[in-house]
Amino acid sequence: MNAVGVKKHIPVLAKEVPEILVQNPAGIYVDGTFGRGGHSRLILEKLNENGRLYAFDRDLEAVEAAKEIKDSRFKIFHAPFAEMVERLDSIGVTEVDGVLLDIGVSSPQIDDAQRGFSFRFDGPLDMRMDKSTGQTAAQWLNTASVEDISKVLKTYGEEKFSFKVANAIVNLRKKQPLETTKQLADLLSDVLPRNKKDSQQHPATRSFQGIRIFINDELGQLKMALNAASSLLKPEGILEVISFHSLEDRIVKRFFENCCNPASHIDPRLPLTADQLPKPLFSKAKRVLPGKEELETNPRSRSSVLRYAVRTAAPWNEQELT
Ligand SMILES: C[S@@+](CC[C@H](N)C(=O)[O-])C[C@H]1O[C@@H](n2cnc3c(N)ncnc32)[C@H](O)[C@@H]1O
Repeated sequence: MNAVGVKKHIPVLAKEVPEILVQNPAGIYVDGTFGRGGHSRLILEKLNENGRLYAFDRDLEAVEAAKEIKDSRFKIFHAPFAEMVERLDSIGVTEVDGVLLDIGVSSPQIDDAQRGFSFRFDGPLDMRMDKSTGQTAAQWLNTASVEDISKVLKTYGEEKFSFKVANAIVNLRKKQPLETTKQLADLLSDVLPRNKKDSQQHPATRSFQGIRIFINDELGQLKMALNAASSLLKPEGILEVISFHSLEDRIVKRFFENCCNPASHIDPRLPLTADQLPKPLFSKAKRVLPGKEELETNPRSRSSVLRYAVRTAAPWNEQELT
């Protein structure tokens, strides 16, 4: 805990991430999700005096926390990671040796009631990672149609009773606007049955997740960043992505599968020579899960999955991700 009672963010796969990523101590690396700099610090330890680390975070509090790192090899951008190509280009960096994305929210974000991410604490229903832009969860829930709310809860929260919840939200806001996390959590507890398979899971879990993913366009950001990061990587450069739920992991897995086997979608009956087939853009895609010890000491690591792959020399070819 720090002075304001916010839990410290322990980086997941702290040993594996820098070990896999940093193959060249004099290389240029990107941490797309600085958070509280757990991984950034470990990456910096692996670099020599010529190495560079460029970090990104869309949360101003994370960027503020980065000021503690007084190291001339390090620079942080307050920007979404999907903008890494343009931001790095503005300082003359056009290729890098490795990119890390540790996606999702950080512990300090979840544990700060004022950010509105958690149904466990009462606070303003905000949920924006970047408080300087975009609409809050409350603004959206108070104006969106039943159909749109239901679609978000179903698609991003995998909430079976999405329409029932959306209806209840619209009925409540006719009487009073939704303003706090407690109002929403209470509504969800009233409307939804307890999960029989997982009685530990609060009924609000799925809806809070769905709304958060939508408000921050998390899956859109991930898809753009996979392309952006890959286009920056030198041959032999490494892309690492840590995700925390199946919606994200599915996107990353499919992306690496397509990039490693781009010819797999081509009809084998077509009269194409090996030279005419698309070349793999990545090789050696691997999945790493936290070990027993980490699972015991860092409960947040429980749902984490690291996927990484090594960029080939084939020119980058923008991947369409659905
Ligand atoms: C799981 S935490 C990263 C923790 C970090 N690896 C550490 O060790 O402290 C995710 C962080 O990424 C940031 N983030 C999420 N999506 C982002 C995006 N699209 N662009 C930039 N930052 C983003 C969040 O604000 C949060 O601070």
